[in-house]
Amino acid sequence: MANIGIVIPAAGQGKRMGAGYNKQFLTLMGRPILAHTVGLFEESNAVSEIVIVGAEGDLSVIEELVHSQRFNKIVAICKGGVFRQDSVRAGVRALSTTIQRIVVHDGARPLLTLQAFHKFIDETQEYPAAIMGVAVKDTIKKIDIAGNVLETLPRELLRAVQTPQIFDRGILEDAHDRAASAGYYGTDDASLLEWMGHPVQMVEGMQENIKVTTPEDLWLAERILATRET
Ligand code: CTP
Ligand code: MG
Repeated sequence: MANIGIVIPAAGQGKRMGAGYNKQFLTLMGRPILAHTVGLFEESNAVSEIVIVGAEGDLSVIEELVHSQRFNKIVAICKGGVFRQDSVRAGVRALSTTIQRIVVHDGARPLLTLQAFHKFIDETQEYPAAIMGVAVKDTIKKIDIAGNVLETLPRELLRAVQTPQIFDRGILEDAHDRAASAGYYGTDDASLLEWMGHPVQMVEGMQENIKVTTPEDLWLAERILATRET
């Protein structure tokens, strides 16, 4: 199967969670969020290497976690940057040169399933760049800075974007290098390709694949996992 390399950005501070430390060490069903996330790729036969990117002060805790969980596809635990984009760029560099297809997945998305991940890999095989997204449930309006409503966007053409995002290595590296030289920052990796004018394919994601961001998300994630285990 595919010789995919995974980059897991986990170098954030978890400010919106307000735990006082990196939210990825909080537990769900007794296991750290980051262990759930990495564990999925560890189990996948499509994955040959995993890089975890952590904040400098978290690196030793991540090393311990990798050790205690007996993960053996981790080729590097590297130091992240100020922005997520800097962290991903550092992670990509740490993958072996034999890896030509890369998946970026947030450390804070522990609810992706192996089935959904494999479906994603299958559906995106022919695209140099592809991402997961889900239909938005709310009506979304564009406003100006004063709060005046400018327009209602057509919901059928809107997607809430998730990770995993998959890329041919050359394209991803090129996008990160160019964005870094230009000082351009996007909120996900696909936006760097969009900025370059490179096509990105959207495929259907899973609603359960939430990013654990606030305390309510933690509660919801725990409930979803508990349901799966019964
Ligand atoms: N991330 C990263 N490096 C950064 C910032 C974020 O690797 N400099 C990672 C986070 O650890 C997380 C993912 O990118 O897995 C998505 O970011 P987010 O959910 O915003 O996490 P945090 O930045 O930690 O949270 P907050 O924005 O609330 O501080
Ligand atoms: Mg953040």
